[in-house]
Amino acid sequence: MFNKYDVIVVGSGIAGLSFALKVAEAGKQVAIITKKNSAESNTNYAQGGIAAVTSQSDDLEMHIRDTLDAGDGLCDPLAVREILRDGPGSIDELVQCGVAFTQLQDGRVSLGKEGGHSKRRILHVKDITGKAIEKALLDAVDNSSLIETMEHHFAVDLITSKKISGQDLDNFDGVDRILGLYVLNEKTQKVETFAASAVLLATGGIGQIYEYTTNPSIATGDGIAMAYRAGVEVSNMEFIQFHPTAFYTTQAERFLISEAVRGEGAILRNLEGEAFMGRYDTRQDLAPRDIVARAIDAEMKKSGARHVWLDVRSIPKATLHERFPNIYEYCSKQGIALEEDMIPVVPAAHYLCGGVKTQLNARTGLTGLYACGEVACTGLHGANRLASNSLLEAVVMAKRGAVAVLEDLAKSYQKSELLPDWLDGDLHNSDERVILTHNRDELKRILWDYVSIVRTDKRLERARTRIEVLEREINDYYWDFKVDVSLLELRNMIQVAALVVRCAIQRKESRGLHFTLDHTQKSERIKDSSLKAY
Ligand code: FAD
Ligand code: SIN
Repeated sequence: MFNKYDVIVVGSGIAGLSFALKVAEAGKQVAIITKKNSAESNTNYAQGGIAAVTSQSDDLEMHIRDTLDAGDGLCDPLAVREILRDGPGSIDELVQCGVAFTQLQDGRVSLGKEGGHSKRRILHVKDITGKAIEKALLDAVDNSSLIETMEHHFAVDLITSKKISGQDLDNFDGVDRILGLYVLNEKTQKVETFAASAVLLATGGIGQIYEYTTNPSIATGDGIAMAYRAGVEVSNMEFIQFHPTAFYTTQAERFLISEAVRGEGAILRNLEGEAFMGRYDTRQDLAPRDIVARAIDAEMKKSGARHVWLDVRSIPKATLHERFPNIYEYCSKQGIALEEDMIPVVPAAHYLCGGVKTQLNARTGLTGLYACGEVACTGLHGANRLASNSLLEAVVMAKRGAVAVLEDLAKSYQKSELLPDWLDGDLHNSDERVILTHNRDELKRILWDYVSIVRTDKRLERARTRIEVLEREINDYYWDFKVDVSLLELRNMIQVAALVVRCAIQRKESRGLHFTLDHTQKSERIKDSSLKAY
């Protein structure tokens, strides 16, 4: 089956939807392909909010300074300035699109505070900001006649001119460019060919490579793996942000207790009841995330405890109900009454600061391929993302990316009739699916045990050799059987995990989210990490 579009967007979170709306506003036809229901995304679970300078008592320079401080010397100052500067404009557009940010009684917007921010500047919709944004954007997409959304369509691989140049492609001028992609239609279980002049990767993060994560099941790093296989540069993969306060359960996907709760006065205590953050940082419970997560890790290692406590008892009951209804409800279901009980919390893998390297217009190193949102590495976050800067980055970069795509479409060309079909010939369905579950569990444990908050050369080396074995096994398996979603996701997860470990091994220093006991100092010589397949 052959499908042809000007622009294809992979992913329906804040980045993909915002971009599609902008391109459609300019009169272009867009297809969004998304691997589950449209709303299922990291975006949908965002709690704390979106950071931007919107109050008189704040200013852009302070937001810039906080972002640079958190990024620990690796932010690109131009990216920081430009993206944060565009923030308030993008907030206005979200409001026009129907996002009703929570207001105070006097009509001013309610601004939350989170770690590393020197001012209250987080716009939010109670503690379900992501859901509200996702809904508003999906409603707008549904109302656009130029956008077609295909749910349960899984992007498998990019088709580039270099990859198929042996097949006598007319107009091939030696410049590698995007021609389309292969997509698994989950209903028919067939891989279809999609031709496009421009493809935006908006596939989000990689939290699922870790045993414990705040991310939903979609976060398997597909976009990064696809881009890497197509020879596109990825960078800074070692900078995995662990959120300090996920609700402690034995389940793998852990419910987030927003940092905004600490912004309203909650404090961390160890099992002895000591408020320990003062021993680690002068900003105490509102220090940047890398510092808080490491402090919790140290407290747990010291005492052998499985969690620490988050004490919310000083927050007025009315605030808990009005500001955090979602968290309140979740905790009640777990038998925790927030007025009296403390919440058991642990760090969990949360956000990837690196990704597909892009310019400040979402262009990647491959002509016609763009990336924005969590899949991309723009230089904004450096070695550690400042809380609530990611929704902002996604929406700002989607707009910038749309401008670039519209400019580039005027120049691009393709001979799409020549795109080869996906061949799975006489491949059959696997009767060894146990390998997939076993290897997925093993991968997640390896990452959790060896590539976590505190690293060492030895742990990273162990992870590398074990992941190499998993990589060999999955590659053999991949060529022997028909593809399905679990196989494709696992292949991507293993590939992305290998990139995380390679970048971490390269970085012989401690900086931001990469902390290693073997190189505890910063090195002035090491800047961005960068990897390319060829
Ligand atoms: P996502 O929203 O993750 O969307 C990715 C999309 O790509 C999904 O639709 C997915 O199905 C699709 N997809 C993936 N792979 C494929 C494939 N192979 N084929 C087809 N489709 C595919 N950030 C903030 O700034 N503020 C917050 O308060 C905040 N809170 C958070 C709370 C939680 C619990 C989590 C998990 C994250 C939070 N973050 C927050 C981070 C933020 O939510 C994400 O960085 C952001 O939403 C990413 O948006 P995105 O559009 O790039 O990706
Ligand atoms: C949170 O609400 O604590 C998450 C904020 C973020 O990840 O930016």
